[in-house]
Amino acid sequence: MRIEQNYSLLKHNTFNLDIKTRWFVEYESEEDLRKLLQDEYFFSQSFWHIGQGSNLLFLDHFNGVIVHSAIKGIEIVKENTEVVWLKVGASEDWDSFVSYCVDKNWGGIENLSYIPGEVGASAFQNIGAYGVEASDCIEEVHMYSLQSGNKQVLSNKECNYSYRNSFFKQTENRGKYYITYVVYRLQKNPTYKLDYGDIRKKLVDKEINLKNIRQAIIEIRKEKLPDPKEYGNAGSFFTNPYITIEHYESLKQNYPDIPSYPIDEKRVKVPAAWLIDKAGLKGHEHGGAAVHTKQPLVLINKNQATGDDIALLAADIQRIIQEKFGIELLPEVNYI
Ligand code: EPU
Repeated sequence: MRIEQNYSLLKHNTFNLDIKTRWFVEYESEEDLRKLLQDEYFFSQSFWHIGQGSNLLFLDHFNGVIVHSAIKGIEIVKENTEVVWLKVGASEDWDSFVSYCVDKNWGGIENLSYIPGEVGASAFQNIGAYGVEASDCIEEVHMYSLQSGNKQVLSNKECNYSYRNSFFKQTENRGKYYITYVVYRLQKNPTYKLDYGDIRKKLVDKEINLKNIRQAIIEIRKEKLPDPKEYGNAGSFFTNPYITIEHYESLKQNYPDIPSYPIDEKRVKVPAAWLIDKAGLKGHEHGGAAVHTKQPLVLINKNQATGDDIALLAADIQRIIQEKFGIELLPEVNYI
C-alpha cells in the first residue's frame, strides 16, 4: 500500500489543476483494500476514490484521503469458440485494454477507443461513444462494500446500467463501493457498429476490421477533442439532456434544425453540443476556462484556470441554456 502526505494531484486530474490532498492512498490488491477498510483513522476522515481523474473537477485542496486503486492484470477466466471472458484490474488504463483486445481480434469495445480513464471507471460510469456503451460488454463487476468490508460480485443486470448511469452512480450507493475487477465479455467473431457519425466515411477504401475501426475512431476523436496535455479537459462536461416530445416540438418551431435521438414514447435526447453552439457560446471564456471551439460540450483549461473558473463557466452555460431553451444541463463531470 502506498501512502503519501500533502500530495499534489496534478497528474491525477485531466483538467491539470495543481490541487493538493492531505493524504493519498493507493492499494495494490484486494488484500490491501481489506486492510484499508478496517482502518478507523481512514473512516474518521473525508475520503474520495478516484480513477485517472478524467471526469473530475477539484474546486479546492482536499483535506482528507484520496484513494486510488493500483490493481492491475488481464486474465482469461473462461472462453469458448465464440466468446472470451476477461477479468481486468480496475486500474488498468482503459485505452491500453482496448488496444490489447483489438490486437487479439476480440471485438466489442473498439468503438470506445481513445477514451481517457481506467477500467474501474468504465464500469462505474458506463462510458459510451459511437453507438457503443461499456455495459454492452460487461459481464460482472467485483467490488467491496465500505459498510461491511466484504466483497460482492454484481451481474450486469444488477449494475442497473443506462446512458452514463449505473448502480454505482445512484445517490444511495455513491462512494459506498470500490470496484476491484471488471469482467468483460468479448466476441471472437465480432460484428461491427459503423453507423454512428463519420465512421464509415473514415473507412472508405479500407478493409473493415477491428484495427482499422480503432484507427478511424482515434482519428475522429483527435479531430474534435482537445489533447489534455495541451488543454486540460474532462471530455464532455455535460450529459446530453432528455426532454419531452412536446418540449421538443415547441422548440422545433423556433429552431427547425434541432437534432434529436429517440428514447421512448415520451422523450427524446438532444445534443448538448448543439444547444451550446446555437446559444453562441463556442469559445466563451471565464477566467482561464473556455468552451472548446471544435466540440462545445468540452470545457478546457485554456490558461491556468482554477477549479472555480471552470465551475463558474459551467454555471454560466447552464443558466443561458435554461433561459434560451428551458433545458437543464447536468454535469457529467463530478465536482469535488
Ligand atoms: N454539434 C453542434 N456543434 C458542434 C458540435 C456538435 O451542433 O460544434 C451537434 C451536432 O448536431 C452533432 C451533435 O452535436 O451531431 C453530437 O455531437 P458528437 O457526435 O460530437 O457527440 P456528443 O453527443 O456531443 C457524445 C458523448 C461523447 C462521445 C461522442 C461520440 C455524451 C455526453 N458525450 O458526445 O463522449 O465521444 O458522443 O459518440 O454523451 C465523454 O463522455 O467525455 C465524451 C467525449
